[in-house]
Amino acid sequence: MDALTDMLQIPPATPITVAITTVTIAVAIFLYIKSHASNHSRRSTHLPPVPEVPGVPVLGNLLQLKEKKPYLTFTRWAQTYGAIYSIRTGATSMVVVSSSEIAKEAMVTRFSSISTRNLSKALTILTADKTMVAMSDYNDYHRTVKRHILTAMLGPNAQRKQRVHRDFMIENISKQLHAFVENSPKEEVDLRKIFQSELFGLAMKQAVGKDVESLNVEDLGVTMKRDEIFQVLVVDPMMGAIEVDWRDFFPYLKWVPNKKFENTIQQMYIRRKAVMKALIKEHKKRIASGENLNSYIDYLLSEAQTFTDEQLIMSLWEPIIESSDTTMVTTEWAMYELAKNPKMQDRLYRDIQSVCGSDKITEENLSQLPYLSAIFHETLRRHSPVPIIPLRHVHEDTVLGGYHVPAGTELAVNIYGCNMEKNVWENPEEYNPDRFMKENETIDMQRTMAFGGGKRVCAGSLQAMLISCIGIGRMVQEFEWRFKDKAEEDINTLGLTTQRLNPLRAIIKPRN
Ligand code: HEM
Ligand SMILES: *[C@@H]1O[C@H](CO)[C@@H](O)[C@H](O)[C@H]1NC(C)=O
Ligand SMILES: *[C@@H]1O[C@H](CO)[C@@H](O)[C@H](O)[C@H]1NC(C)=O
Ligand SMILES: *[C@@H]1O[C@H](CO)[C@@H](O)[C@H](O)[C@H]1NC(C)=O
Ligand SMILES: *[C@@H]1O[C@H](CO)[C@@H](O)[C@H](O)[C@H]1NC(C)=O
Repeated sequence: MDALTDMLQIPPATPITVAITTVTIAVAIFLYIKSHASNHSRRSTHLPPVPEVPGVPVLGNLLQLKEKKPYLTFTRWAQTYGAIYSIRTGATSMVVVSSSEIAKEAMVTRFSSISTRNLSKALTILTADKTMVAMSDYNDYHRTVKRHILTAMLGPNAQRKQRVHRDFMIENISKQLHAFVENSPKEEVDLRKIFQSELFGLAMKQAVGKDVESLNVEDLGVTMKRDEIFQVLVVDPMMGAIEVDWRDFFPYLKWVPNKKFENTIQQMYIRRKAVMKALIKEHKKRIASGENLNSYIDYLLSEAQTFTDEQLIMSLWEPIIESSDTTMVTTEWAMYELAKNPKMQDRLYRDIQSVCGSDKITEENLSQLPYLSAIFHETLRRHSPVPIIPLRHVHEDTVLGGYHVPAGTELAVNIYGCNMEKNVWENPEEYNPDRFMKENETIDMQRTMAFGGGKRVCAGSLQAMLISCIGIGRMVQEFEWRFKDKAEEDINTLGLTTQRLNPLRAIIKPRN
C-alpha cells in the first residue's frame, strides 16, 4: 500500500474538496485492494493486513464527524467489518479495535510496539510536549511521574491519608442538596454544578494544598476568582483537547489550515501556566510560614527536586484536570439511571439501610454493598466516560488479532465498542447492574474496559470508585430521585474524550 500512499500526496484543501478527493481516494484504494488482493504472500510477515473499511471517509462520514461521536460510528462499523479494521484518512492509516480480547492484546502483549503517541501540533502545546503521565510515551519520565502520583496522591495509602478531604466533600454536597430542596422543593436540581465544583475543590486540596477563593496571577496582572481559575485550569484545556482530538482522529482536518485555532491553544497554555505558577508561589509562602502541609506539591518539592519548572507545573496540573470531569460524569450517569429506574433505586436504598441503619454510608461499608458496586461498574460499562482511548502510535511492525500492523499506524481502542460486545455482554444495550451480581465476589476494577489496561491503566480508578460509590450511596440514602413528568429522555451526549449527558436535572425529595 505504501506506493499508493506516496502516489496520493494531497495538497491542503477546503473541506469540500477534501471530501470529494477522499471519495476518489477511497475508490482508488478499493480498486487497488481488489487488484492486489492476492499479492500478500510477498509480505515478510506472511500475515494479512488489517481489513479496511472501504470508502472512508465519504460525505456521510463527514456528517458523522460533525456530531463528534466517532465511538458510535466506530462501533457501527465493527458490526460490519469486525472487531479490528483499519480506516485511511489521507496519508495516515488508523486501526480501530472494538473487542476486549484484541484490546488487551494491544495494551499488554504487543504493548512494547505500541507504547508511544504521535501528537498533533496543538496537543503538543497543551501537553507541554508530552510532559504528562497520560500523554507521555512510555519511558523513564512516564514511569517516574506515575510512581510519584500513585505514591503521593492516588494509590491506596495516599487515598487513605486523604480520606478526610473526601469526607468533607460528600458532607458539602449533601448540605448543598438539602439547602436546595429547602429553598426550592419543586424545582429540578443541577447536580453537575454542585458536584463539579466540589470535585475541583478536592483536586486543588490534593494537588496544591488549598482550595483557593481568589488568586493574584502576577504574570497576567490580574486577580482571579475561583470560577475563573476553574475555567483556565479545567474547562478551557478540556474544550481544547476535544477539538484537538477531533482533528487527530480525522487527520485530513489537519490539512485545513487553522491558524486562529493554534493561537487559541497557545493562549490556553500561557494562562494555565501563569495560574499554576501563582498557585505554586502561594504554596511556597505557606511552607515558609511553617504550615504543616501534606499534599502532592509538598511531596514533589521534596522528592522530585530535579524536575524543571515545567515538569512541576504539569505534574500538579494533570490530576486537577483528570479529577474534575470523569468521576462527575460517571456519578451523573448513575443518578440518571437510578432516577429512570425506581425499582433499582429502591433496591439500593433498602440495601444501604440494612447495612448502615441510621448511620451515614462510609467507605468501610462498601464491601458489604455489592449492588452499589454493581451499579458503579454497570455505569462504567454502559456509559464509559472515556469512550475511545487517546490514540496510541504503532512505532514498530506488530501483529493484532492475527493481522500485520505496520509501523506508523495510529491505534484507536474503542472502549465503548468493547463494552458493547454482544458475545461478551448479554443484551449490551440494556442498563442492568444485575449482570455484575452473578459473580459473587468483589468486582475486578478492570472488569469493564473503562479504565484502559496494561501499563497505561488509569492511575485514578481507586479514587474514582470511592468518590462515585459514596456519592451515589449517600445521595440515594438521603433523597428520592425522580424526573419531572418522565421528561428526561433528552440524553443528548457530547464530547469525544467524555461521553456526557446534557446536565442531569432531577427532582429530589428528602427521605423520611
Ligand atoms: C471514572 C473515572 C475515570 C475513568 C473512566 C478513567 C479512564 C482512564 C483511561 C481509559 C485511561 C487510559 C488512557 C490510555 O490508555 O491511554 C486513563 C488514564 C489515566 N487516568 Fe483515568 N479515568 C478516570 C478517573 C481518573 C482520576 C480521578 C484520575 C486522577 C485524579 C485519573 C488519572 C489518570 C492518569 C494519571 C492516567 C494515565 C495513566 C498512564 O498513562 O499510565 N483518572 N484513565
Ligand atoms: C466544603 O465546604 C467548606 C465550606 O464552604 C469549604 O471550606 C471546603 O473547602 C469544602 N470542602 C471541599 C473538599 O470542597
Ligand atoms: C460502616 O462503617 C462504619 C465506620 O465508618 C462502621 O463503624 C460500621 O460498623 C460499618 N457498618 C458495617 C455494617 O460494617
Ligand atoms: C506523526 O504524524 C505526522 C502527521 O500526522 C506524520 O507526518 C509523521 O510521520 C508521524 N510520525 C511518525 C513517527 O510516524
Ligand atoms: C457466594 O458467596 C457466599 C459467601 O461468601 C458463599 O457462601 C456461597 O457459597 C457463594 N456462592 C457461589 C455460587 O459461589
